[in-house]
Amino acid sequence: MTNQDGFETLAIHAGQEPDPVTGAVVPPIYQVSTYKQDGVGGLRGGYEYSRSANPTRTALEQCLAALEGAPRALAFASGMAAEDCLLRTVCSPGDHVLVPDDAYGGTYRLFARVFSGWGLTHDVVPISHVAAVREQLAARKITVVWAETPTNPLLGIADIRALAEAAHEAGALLVVDNTFASPYLQQPLVLGADVVVHSTTKYLGGHSDVVGGALVVADPELAERLAFTQNATGGVAGPFDSWLTLRGVKTLAARMDRHCRNAMRVAQMLAEHPAVSEVLYPGLPSLPGHKTAQEQMRAFGGMVSFRLLAGEEAAVRACGRTRLFTLGESLGGVESLIEHPARMTHASVTGSPLEVPGDLIRLSVGIEDCDDLLDDLRQALSDD
Ligand SMILES: Cc1ncc(COP(=O)(O)O)c(C=O)c1O
Repeated sequence: MTNQDGFETLAIHAGQEPDPVTGAVVPPIYQVSTYKQDGVGGLRGGYEYSRSANPTRTALEQCLAALEGAPRALAFASGMAAEDCLLRTVCSPGDHVLVPDDAYGGTYRLFARVFSGWGLTHDVVPISHVAAVREQLAARKITVVWAETPTNPLLGIADIRALAEAAHEAGALLVVDNTFASPYLQQPLVLGADVVVHSTTKYLGGHSDVVGGALVVADPELAERLAFTQNATGGVAGPFDSWLTLRGVKTLAARMDRHCRNAMRVAQMLAEHPAVSEVLYPGLPSLPGHKTAQEQMRAFGGMVSFRLLAGEEAAVRACGRTRLFTLGESLGGVESLIEHPARMTHASVTGSPLEVPGDLIRLSVGIEDCDDLLDDLRQALSDD
């Protein structure tokens, strides 16, 4: 692989040279905990114990690093394990961080319910408004600015380049959760971010069959510190999970193209639907973040949220009436999912500044025949 290879080539080949022993074209699942050493202190190929490193995990890490245009990636047991490792490494008790006003509920819970007890304090900022973020950065010492873009579940857009500039001027790190976009649509490190977080459970894995997470970093020294914490605390991706994720990554580009196409049609249909009061999809020119999304993303992604005129109970009823959209948490798989964020993925932020409207429905638009998806949504909305 060379740095000049295109995204699709890297997704299929980076970190995935044919096995030197057998020529197997897919990296084997090294289902092993320990390795025979070449004498005391003489590691064979850098492997001694699979918490520290495992060849299947290495293959995934090399591939993810290549896809984000970075020197190093680390693979974890879940997105939350990746976030936990990152915060323990770059923050200390007494530090202060900025958290976005719209984000995955579990991320906010980590700050508000876990790291607060460790002495890490936070302020919630409207992450789409760089001026508001700058104001906070000027008011006190900030260690980390945390951004999601597009955000979960309101599909807000953060200007990565402008945030990176603002964070760096104030001596803070910019972390971008790139789960919704995936590296195919957006490469935050190339735009100036310091750390990319992924729930690889979503688009990278792509088939709703594995939970995983990743950190991708531009600075090798920071990567070393993260690897130290990862090994010391142990939230690593196992070999089979790494293998499943790597298999999903190979088709990321092809899947994302289809997700984006289907989602755009779904958003356009919903925008015209009489039961719908608002559609949140970065591909719609009416969305405030549309222009920034156009500048920093290849396309607008597979997530669509919308609000119903008839309110919360109607939204809950609609979620229960679909045939093809499966009622479920998570996102980014080939199959379409529907959910009610206020009572499901974002129940943990009720009563917080991140609370989401009760009339909101979130769709993860899959890669099925789009006409079938449109019919399914029309029938689910027909009674309200
Ligand atoms: C944007 C985002 N970040 C992080 C996570 C956490 O990842 P995981 O569920 O793999 O721990 C999620 C999970 O839904 C997510 O949507």
